[in-house]
Amino acid sequence: MNEPRVSRYQYLTDTNPGTPAGELLRRYWQPIALLRDLPAENAAPLGARIMGQDVVLFRDEQGRPAALDRKCIHRCADLVLGRVEAGGLRCPYHGWVFDLRGKVLEQPAEPPAVAAAAMNRVKARAYPVHEAAGALWIYLGPGEAPLFPAYPALQGGAEHRYTCRWHGDANWLQASEGNIDPIHTSYLHQMELEDESMKGRWGVFKNPARPELSVAETRFGVRLFTTRALGNGGESAESGEKSIRITNFVLPNACAVGGFEGYLGDGGATMLWDVPIDNVSHYRWEFIFHKSGQLDRDSLEAQYATERDRSGAPHLRDRMWRTKETNYAQDRESMKEKTFLGLGPCFSVHDVVITQSQGEVHDQSLEHLASSDVAIIRARRQLDEAAQAVARGEDPRGVVRTERENDFRDMVVYTGTLAAGVSKEDYVAELERRTDLFALATAAAE
Ligand code: FES
Ligand SMILES: [Fe+2]
Repeated sequence: MNEPRVSRYQYLTDTNPGTPAGELLRRYWQPIALLRDLPAENAAPLGARIMGQDVVLFRDEQGRPAALDRKCIHRCADLVLGRVEAGGLRCPYHGWVFDLRGKVLEQPAEPPAVAAAAMNRVKARAYPVHEAAGALWIYLGPGEAPLFPAYPALQGGAEHRYTCRWHGDANWLQASEGNIDPIHTSYLHQMELEDESMKGRWGVFKNPARPELSVAETRFGVRLFTTRALGNGGESAESGEKSIRITNFVLPNACAVGGFEGYLGDGGATMLWDVPIDNVSHYRWEFIFHKSGQLDRDSLEAQYATERDRSGAPHLRDRMWRTKETNYAQDRESMKEKTFLGLGPCFSVHDVVITQSQGEVHDQSLEHLASSDVAIIRARRQLDEAAQAVARGEDPRGVVRTERENDFRDMVVYTGTLAAGVSKEDYVAELERRTDLFALATAAAE
């Protein structure tokens, strides 16, 4: 009988507090809430679950955002039910007030002398937060938070970006690995491209469906090169030109994928983050950016809206309406000619559904990895090394603490044409030198 295989990387799926992968993911800023859900003008606190940990998010009376452990440190009442007042968040049970940093400002039922002594002794746990790119971000790790990373896809104001998230019922790692699997675009996402914008955006994934794939390590993760021979003969094309697509795995749970070169020109970048809610669910965050400010957010929003939960319940609005119980309403008729998967044209839905289909926590011991899984294999190894760095007390790869390191123009995502005789390395080096690639068009005009 065959011995059961064990993957040495399976442990990466467990991100609960105190686990090696949990400690690793906590060393990086993570998106935790859409700013839409924490508006300045609404004083209601917001509960959020991340990596098996519950926090309460709120803005103080001056509109400054804050994050505290969700249970009150007195006797564990739920601070989401609390009141924003008196310079912080007041627990609804016995009226203790906590400020942005967790300092106890009031214990109204205690004699003043007792309260004064206790307030210096006990403190709620507070976490650094940062507002950027339509999201509130949190740092859950120990020590001083690293710099907020200046990734190209996170720059600019709302006019440059569309930000949203999807709830997925699956472990974060399998979702993240789907993003660095460039082969699946030639299968899972194949569909009839009905208009010019679809052709411009997705035409590159058309045949041949056996692209060449190679990877290179970067200071922030893994760079992926996907090349496809151009011309009618696929691999036998005579010009020697190839289409080249450059994407990146970004430690520990993000990736930077395609721009919009096909219809908006240079300067597009999309980043995805798969943030664990707990070990069996995650949010897939999407930050879709183009420097030109020409993104058609309305049509993106309209397409996504057709796939969203239809109950109108606020706590379900990041979910899709399709459910596993009904086989996600797969349309076999459309699979004959229109789509490969039969779930409509929304890539996010394809990705969420297929990674859910792998099981709540993907069992790596059942896999038979192939050569085209090279980026996934490299990413697992990097995550493993990064977790070991954290265990040694070091900063893991990709964490930045100086302004010089925080220049991420080398996080190139690009789809272009590789001329015969030009190496991928030379091609990407040229792109890295371009100071205009992601420079905001509006900033350049000023
Ligand atoms: S439980 Fe919060 S003040 Fe008592
Ligand atoms: Fe995908």
